[in-house]
Amino acid sequence: MTTPDLFATPPELARHLQQLRQTLHGHAHRYYVQDAPTVPDAEYDRLFQELQALEARYPELVTPDSPTQRVGGRALEQFAPVRHAVPMLSIRTETDTQASGAQNFDARIRRELGLTEMDEPVTYVAEPKFDGLAMSLRYEQGVLVQAATRGDGETGEDVTQNIRTIGQIPLKLPGAAPAVLEVRGEVYMRRDDFEALNERQRQKIAAGAKGERTFVNPRNAAAGAVRQLDPAIAAQRPLSFFAYGLGEVTHADARGPDFASHLDLLQTLKIWGFPISALIQRALGAIELVAYYESIGRARDSLGFDIDGVVYKVDSLALQRRLGFVSREPRWAVAHKFPAQEMLTTVLAIDVQVGRTGKLTPVAKLAPVFVGGVTVTHATLHNEDEARRKDVRVGDTVIVRRAGDVIPEVVSVVLPAALPQAVDDAPEALTGLALAATPSLGHGLPGIARGPVFTMPKTCPVCGSVALREEGEADYRCTGGLFCSAQRKQSILHFAQRRAVEVEGLGDKLVDQLVDGGIIHTLPDLYRLGLTALANLDRMADKSAQNILDALQKSRQTTLPRFLFGLGVRHVGEATAKALARHFGQLDAIMDASEDQLLEVADVGPIVAKSLRTFFDQPHNREVVEQLRACGVTWPEGPPAARTPTPLGGNTFVLTGTLPTLGREQAKALIEAAGGKVAGSVSKKTSYVVAGAEAGSKLDRARELGLTVLDEAALLALLQVPVASDAPGV
Ligand code: IVH
Repeated sequence: MTTPDLFATPPELARHLQQLRQTLHGHAHRYYVQDAPTVPDAEYDRLFQELQALEARYPELVTPDSPTQRVGGRALEQFAPVRHAVPMLSIRTETDTQASGAQNFDARIRRELGLTEMDEPVTYVAEPKFDGLAMSLRYEQGVLVQAATRGDGETGEDVTQNIRTIGQIPLKLPGAAPAVLEVRGEVYMRRDDFEALNERQRQKIAAGAKGERTFVNPRNAAAGAVRQLDPAIAAQRPLSFFAYGLGEVTHADARGPDFASHLDLLQTLKIWGFPISALIQRALGAIELVAYYESIGRARDSLGFDIDGVVYKVDSLALQRRLGFVSREPRWAVAHKFPAQEMLTTVLAIDVQVGRTGKLTPVAKLAPVFVGGVTVTHATLHNEDEARRKDVRVGDTVIVRRAGDVIPEVVSVVLPAALPQAVDDAPEALTGLALAATPSLGHGLPGIARGPVFTMPKTCPVCGSVALREEGEADYRCTGGLFCSAQRKQSILHFAQRRAVEVEGLGDKLVDQLVDGGIIHTLPDLYRLGLTALANLDRMADKSAQNILDALQKSRQTTLPRFLFGLGVRHVGEATAKALARHFGQLDAIMDASEDQLLEVADVGPIVAKSLRTFFDQPHNREVVEQLRACGVTWPEGPPAARTPTPLGGNTFVLTGTLPTLGREQAKALIEAAGGKVAGSVSKKTSYVVAGAEAGSKLDRARELGLTVLDEAALLALLQVPVASDAPGV
């Protein structure tokens, strides 16, 4: 044990520890007891680790009531306590979110088993780390008799009434099951169920219902439902369950559990009727653990439910027994976390950005923070109403969220009461130990007062034109049109992006210089650029200038959908551009089509039709098209679609679950390329539901409606149906 070297435990240190404990207690109470956390998990983890580190260094300052001395939450008094026959353990958490996290675990297991490099790789089972709450289900003589939360690991709460309402949990087991069987797993809420629940909650609140609230995330909603005192209300909260282990098991003939491996155990549980995640896999050695971590990490955002990492377990139960436990954690398992998707940071300023269509967006400029795997410095506040509803102001501490490729957003402001005291209160003795890892300890920045309530400027911050908010619209728009350099820049970037005509290397820095320097004014000017003009720009060598010219040359050969999308007509996204191109075959036909003719296109409604008409009725937009053509931008044109039927034309697909090989976007692209549409929810109008692993309520709904359900193989077969001989290849 270490003893303090320099200081005889300064009183400020004791005070700081007390402060940390109090803050953590407050967070734990809101998380476990009220099911309403106020800070991201990552913030709790950070404070907890700081406390752990300090207590390890000054063990004489550990107090029995310290949050480090207790696992999980406290049992709620309203529910009867349940003493777990076999304690519900926690697992060690590996927070290194690199491949090395998995390698460290494998190295540790090999060391503890006394294996050398000459020995075979260890067989593991890799599982998602479900973000719900742990549950122990007790069956006696094959009948569900009790369901208990984890509580502090020793004693949980009896929530049997509420758990019985979960359809996926068997109430009765087949005859082969042991006399006493405790199945452990995670109760969670699927994302679509969570969204639907929150939508219902919002409607209740809007209708004036008292005591109703929305939930911050699926885990918190699931926890709230499990600990609902009224089982009738719990029954309306759609919960799901995955089994991943066992508690007490006794056979009538006093045999012990007789599984050879963890996977064997899971397969048996599946036969007995428990849901087992299809994403659970056997993994051989560190190499396959790393591959699993990476592939699940990529799939994370397209799963139907939240996970916050993966769990590795030694597969052989004999080896598990040999490895045993350290304090309250098994040595044979580890939880390998993904980068946190929510973090705390400070608002440095609130800027207003001008988009391609003149839309003004308030954007919070943030103290840089690592979230969702990247460093984030800006987060959108969407619009004036949102910024005000969240009451985000300069100087505030906020939760930022970044999941997948979605742009980072400010979730909420964290009130000072939920935060530990400011940096300057921390004892000096801590500098370098804890503070190095604590970028934002206080509410806001020292010396920066909380700013005023946000209001949208009434003129464009870039060109000074009047900014208007139209009746019924959430957004303010700059009325400057192409007079506004911000709109011009955004239009150029939109045209040049990969999904449009693609001009490689033409990024925002370059466009800023070109527009601000008066070198280009309109889109066609891009194609009139010469080597000298480009090479004279800042940080532009001849070679890079030539690359841009080559990229421009390459972009002259494009396709009709890309060109049309690139023009940036409001409400015309990629899918609509494709549908228009397919229907009309030629740009002139689209430019001249009446609103009624436009409405004949499968993907086009009144708003899109009007927007297209407005756009092409403006002479300067037609002029841009003519000039681009004159500059050599071309695309193949064809006859209108009436004579080019597509195999899936008119069919609507809904994708659910994880397909074995195709990603969500890939499947969508294939369906669209074949003329089909992809919708987000199942209805009577859905033609096919494509279901993969872990498909959930959408699949249930499809079955209810008697719709055709396809797996990936069936979808691919459908996509390859021979097309009519005069149709183009898909
Ligand atoms: S195994 C002895 N497997 O993570 C090991 N836990 O601290 C017992 N969790 O509270 C747990 N997914 O709620 C295990 N595939 C998984 C899990 C998992 C999520 C949760 C569980 C527990 C915590 C571990």
